[in-house]
Amino acid sequence: MHLKELRLRDFRNYTALDAVFQPGFHLFLGDNGQGKSNLLEAIYLLSTLKSFRGVPNSLLVRAGQKGYFVGGVLVGERENHVKTYWSARERNLVLNGRRIARTEDIYGTIRAVVFCAEDMLLIKGGPQYRRRYMDFLLAQTDSSYLTILQRYGLALRSRNAALKTGKVSVGVLEGFSRELVSSGSEIIRRRSELVQKIRPTVCQTYAKIANQKSEEVQCYYRPNVEGDFSVELAQSRQRELAQRYTVVGPHRDDLDFLMNGVPVLRQGSEGQKRTWALALKMAQAEYLTQVHGVQPVLLIDDVMGELDQHRRQAFLPLLNRVASGRGQMFMTCTSKNWYQEMDFKMTEWSIQRGQLFPLET
Ligand SMILES: Nc1ncnc2c1ncn2[C@@H]1O[C@H](COP(=O)(O)OP(=O)(O)OP(=O)(O)O)[C@@H](O)[C@H]1O
Ligand SMILES: [Mg+2]
Repeated sequence: MHLKELRLRDFRNYTALDAVFQPGFHLFLGDNGQGKSNLLEAIYLLSTLKSFRGVPNSLLVRAGQKGYFVGGVLVGERENHVKTYWSARERNLVLNGRRIARTEDIYGTIRAVVFCAEDMLLIKGGPQYRRRYMDFLLAQTDSSYLTILQRYGLALRSRNAALKTGKVSVGVLEGFSRELVSSGSEIIRRRSELVQKIRPTVCQTYAKIANQKSEEVQCYYRPNVEGDFSVELAQSRQRELAQRYTVVGPHRDDLDFLMNGVPVLRQGSEGQKRTWALALKMAQAEYLTQVHGVQPVLLIDDVMGELDQHRRQAFLPLLNRVASGRGQMFMTCTSKNWYQEMDFKMTEWSIQRGQLFPLET
């Protein structure tokens, strides 16, 4: 799977960009603030219609302009042309010449995995980041999952709104509970299966990058509801009436990361946390490759510099393996020093003030 063409108009600090990319390894070199991350953000936007930096669309529009355009030609099982225009007044999403309304319809035309500074939130942030990791990976591998997630979200919001009034009838509550339990149980089942499947890859990748026999790692799914959801929901009735929201359910799930039996958050060093975050993202890429038979596009923003040379040298071959064949990888870098450790073929680009130039190598 690869991105063959990218067009930007008024996106972040890019006035206009028209670029053609081959499969393989691309390196974006440039000083701070030149537009390296912005370019990865645009590529990621094509796969999810969201910024990986979690910012609203309005911030993606070049300052002083009305709207942005991002278009791409993506080569997967077939060639897909995606165009998206966004302004405060108008949103337009076109796939292969036809306007589409549901964003899910472009899921799968390109699958991307991003490695960025924000990944540390997977380890250091609240449980919502770990739920989002599971949910996103499930959505990337099964489009029906999004529907279940939306059903659950809707039931939860309605139920919480009813509880908030403080005078909800048992009948009304039971109605919302049925939907909550049916979609919620399905979410729990799928998350549990997912973690079982990706656990070996996460742990093996961690071990490969860290190359420290002394770091014995494990990851577990920690569902908020361990038994029967409907039973636990009924048992929580007094508490939820007192607190006026739904206190049990998969909206409170989490993942646990352990090193030598101790949560990494408690004892891990910065480098070890970084390694965990990388291992989770690598596992995402590997799992997508297993399920779909094609490698996702890898977007690697500024993560290498934070690893020690040892870990970097262990991580790069893993990346290279994923990006080999027909795969594709885009990596940003500010200085030329560490990447000379890499001895594989890559295309180098320079980014200066929102412009992309091929570098002769
Ligand atoms: N909506 C926008 N309109 C115009 N310029 C923008 C917009 N959003 C961001 N920028 C500019 O883009 C630049 C930042 O780009 P980006 O985050 O891609 O930098 P970078 O090359 O990744 O730098 P670093 O090495 O520091 O990570 C800044 O100069 C910022 O002012
Ligand atoms: Mg950046």
